[in-house]
Amino acid sequence: MKNIYSNIFPFNNKTLNKSISSLKSGNLVGLPTETVYGLAGNAYSKIAVQKIYNLKKRPKKNPLIVHYINYKLAEKDVILNSNFFKLYRKFCPGPITFILKKKNNSKIQSSAIANLDTVAIRFPSHKITRSLLKKLKFPLAMPSANLSSGISPVSALDVSDEFKRKIKIIINGGGSKIGIESTVVNLVGSPKILRPGIISFKSINKFLKIRFIKKNSKIRSPGMLKRHYSPGIPILLNQKKAIKKCAFITFGKKFKHKSNYYNLSKKSDLKEAAANLYKTLRKIKKRGFKKICVVKIPNRGPGIAINDRLKRASY
Ligand code: TXA
Ligand code: MG
Repeated sequence: MKNIYSNIFPFNNKTLNKSISSLKSGNLVGLPTETVYGLAGNAYSKIAVQKIYNLKKRPKKNPLIVHYINYKLAEKDVILNSNFFKLYRKFCPGPITFILKKKNNSKIQSSAIANLDTVAIRFPSHKITRSLLKKLKFPLAMPSANLSSGISPVSALDVSDEFKRKIKIIINGGGSKIGIESTVVNLVGSPKILRPGIISFKSINKFLKIRFIKKNSKIRSPGMLKRHYSPGIPILLNQKKAIKKCAFITFGKKFKHKSNYYNLSKKSDLKEAAANLYKTLRKIKKRGFKKICVVKIPNRGPGIAINDRLKRASY
C-alpha cells in the first residue's frame, strides 16, 4: 500500500522546481504560511481556480484571497489607497489581508473573487511561500487547505489528511507559527475588520481608525458563514467544568492535567492559545470524543480571534 503521506515533500530545490511547474500548468500545491496551510493555485487561471473550489467543496460565492510577493505586483490588479500603505508599512509581509477595489484591467479570474468588484490581497511572510512567489509571474489564490467549513490545517500532515491523494504536492514547512487565519480588513470606504486575527484591533487602530464590522451588516465578508471552523462534533462554550466523557479545553494554570483536559496555554498567553487552537480541535476529534466543552477565554487581543472561531465552530 502506498504511504498516504507520500505527497508531503521537504523544501529543497527539487521541490521548489516541481511546485513551480505544477502551478504553471494549472495544478494546485499545498503551501505553508505563517497563519495556516493554504491550497495554492494560479489566480489568473480559470482552471486552477475551478480546481480550488472543487477540491475544497467551497461555495462559489465565497471569494478567495490572492497572495503577492509585494505591493508593486498587487498594484497591477487592485487600487491601492493611503490607508493600505499605512498598514502595509507596519504589518507586511505578515498575517493581514486587505479588501480593495479591483482594477478594470486586472487579470484575476472573476470566479476567484465570486464576481465581486473587490479583491482580498495578502503578503505572506513564510519563507517557503515567498520563495515560490518570487519565481512566479502570477499571484496565488490560496484559501486555507481544508474542506469547506472545516478546521484550517496547521501542518503538512493536516493537509494530507484533508485531501488524501487528491493533492499531489504539499510542501512541509513545519507547524504554522500563528495557527489561525489572517486578520481581514476592508479598506474600501471606512476601514473595518471583517475577520479578527493575531494582528489585533488595538494594534491596527494605532495607525488607522478602524471599527469591527456590525454583526448583521450586509457587507460582511461573504465567506464569514455562521458555521465554520467546525470539528464536526458539538462544542459547548463558557463551561466551568467538563461534562462526563467530554473533552475539556482549558486555559491557564489553575487546571490540573487530566486525560481528557487540553490546555491551550498553561501560562495564560493568548497568542500561544491561538497557536494551539486548531491543533487541539483536530487532536480531540481524532481521539474519538463526541463532544467538547470549552472554558471561557478572555475576550481581548488574540482572545477576540479565538472566541470568533470557537463561536462559529460551535454553531
Ligand atoms: O491566513 C489566511 O488568510 C489563510 C492563508 C492560507 O493565507 N487563508 C485563508 O483563506 O484563510 P480563506 O479562503 O480560508 O478565507 C478567506 C476569507 C473568507 O472569509 C472570504 O470570504 C474573505 O476572506 N474574502 C475574500 N475576498 C473577499 C472580498 N472581496 N470581500 C470580503 N471578504 C472577502
Ligand atoms: Mg478557510
